[in-house]
Amino acid sequence: MCGIVGILGKNEVSPLILESLKRLEYRGYDSAGIATVNLGKLDRRRSVGKLLNLSDHLVSNPLSGKSGIGHTRWATHGAPTIVNSHPHQSGTSVAVVHNGIIENFNDLKSKLIAKGANFESETDTEVIAHLVHKFLESGMHPTDAVKETLPLLQGAFALCFLFSGEPDLMIAARQGSPLAIGYGNDEMFIGSDAIALSPLTNKISYLEEGDCAVIQRHSVKIFDQSDNLVERKINKIKPDQTRSSKDGFKHFMLKEIFEQPEALSRVITKYISADGKSITIKCSEMDLDKIEKITMVACGTAYLACATAKYWFEKFARIPVEVDIASEFRYREPPLTKDTLAIFVSQSGETADTLAALRYAKIHAKKVISIVNVSESSIARESDLAIPILAGPEISVASTKGFTNQLAVLAILALKIAAEQNQLSSPQLQTYLANLRYLPSLQNDVLDASPKIEKISRKLSKITNMLFLGRGVMHPLALEGALKLKEISYIHAEGFASGELKHGPIALIDNKVPVVVIAPTNDLFEKTISNMHEVMARDGKVIFVTDREGSEVASKGSWEIIEMPKITHLFAPIVYAIPMQLLAYYTAVTKGTDVDQPRNLAKSVTVE
Ligand code: M6R
Repeated sequence: MCGIVGILGKNEVSPLILESLKRLEYRGYDSAGIATVNLGKLDRRRSVGKLLNLSDHLVSNPLSGKSGIGHTRWATHGAPTIVNSHPHQSGTSVAVVHNGIIENFNDLKSKLIAKGANFESETDTEVIAHLVHKFLESGMHPTDAVKETLPLLQGAFALCFLFSGEPDLMIAARQGSPLAIGYGNDEMFIGSDAIALSPLTNKISYLEEGDCAVIQRHSVKIFDQSDNLVERKINKIKPDQTRSSKDGFKHFMLKEIFEQPEALSRVITKYISADGKSITIKCSEMDLDKIEKITMVACGTAYLACATAKYWFEKFARIPVEVDIASEFRYREPPLTKDTLAIFVSQSGETADTLAALRYAKIHAKKVISIVNVSESSIARESDLAIPILAGPEISVASTKGFTNQLAVLAILALKIAAEQNQLSSPQLQTYLANLRYLPSLQNDVLDASPKIEKISRKLSKITNMLFLGRGVMHPLALEGALKLKEISYIHAEGFASGELKHGPIALIDNKVPVVVIAPTNDLFEKTISNMHEVMARDGKVIFVTDREGSEVASKGSWEIIEMPKITHLFAPIVYAIPMQLLAYYTAVTKGTDVDQPRNLAKSVTVE
């Protein structure tokens, strides 16, 4: 995680770096810092906590200079303190900002200490500053000093260096963590992503694995892993990659929850033909008719989107599906066959574990499809086919519209594969597509019920444990409801398949534990209701999420009811996700937690 910015500018750069860091704060907000070259010397300011603190610090302690680097930190090695904040320096010759982890830093640190180096921080990053400093001291040019240092580093990193006496030089390097170069007029920029650079320039190129870029105001030289001078394509950033505002909502999360009907409509319009008869995802080269197995890999909420989609792929296409957590998949080396389609789902498209898993699948699977929100992301660029979920920028750490749009794209892809494999007749396909086209209006109906959910949430702010139960396609949604609640309200919550309750979790039930039971009146309704009664019999406080029919027949004894529109088909999670999100949101607001930037978390997880 962590966000990096670098600017060789025409004017004072601190305010611009601060502005860009704000756009990267979703990557981490434990501490922040900026270093500049001013009158030939390195100078820096660092603050613990959110960027606002750095901004205040800069008001009382301004930082001059027309070249600078900045960093917003998600702590890995060492607590969020001033000395552990980036930029790190060794002596006065070099400053560095880093995103990633240097795995062999202990070994490097011991060797440097043995040679007399003094370390001020507990970070892995500081070894990089010391190594470069050592090479500079031996008389090397900064470019050579960095090039000598990079092969000594093991792990994942994106780095940006600044040097004293070099106001027209930045050096950037990428191995495992993303980094973009922005091209201006007599100015150059470095950023962890295009969003950071979008107010500064619309011309971006992405460094590739092993690249090292030597940047001056009028030139950029990029060297690849083998030190060959290479060119990287310059892309124009699209306006939708720019960060948006809260538009009057109290939090980005609430705004993004309410954006779901519109975001879902974009997916439907883009991937379903206007006459509702066919799917328009362009994938003729993917040989979808020849696939015999599907492996789906992701993390967190994206993983739960995959777990939901497993039901769709198996039901519609009758293809066996395995769903895996990326951090497990990548080291398990699962046997993939050449008839396996590997699908990777990631909102950010930069999640380190998902990217590493994708690279394994690229070698062993037939084809790799990614489902991403950021079309220019590393995961998108390394896939055989990237299908954008068109959710628009998702700023809140808790994924909401990202999740429901991932589900929608996966549902359409499942139908597409089913059709290619002749598992669906045209009328069947059209019925399913009609079901999907109706979902945005059902999402709107649920959003209208948000005051009721807000009222229920007020009763949850004092509780310490909560359970979520669902069956079939609603089981992953129970897990998602629990994840959302713990992520932003810090209330311990767990999701279970309702049939599993009596195999252990039922021991947790008493009159202090609210249990959300997700039960549309589908073919599994009666079974879920039996499990709900098992909870009620033990004094559990049931929050019953069902449609009118369900509420009429089974609500007796519930603590609260959230009434949903009638949806009996398998796509119901795309609508039932909303009450889970609203419950978590309003509970967090009542508790007064930091909804958009919950503690210990970051939006883009670029370390493993
Ligand atoms: O960007 P990604 O979709 O790859 O991120 C995966 C998870 O880190 C993410 O879904 C996380 O679980 C969310 N914060 C959950 O709301």
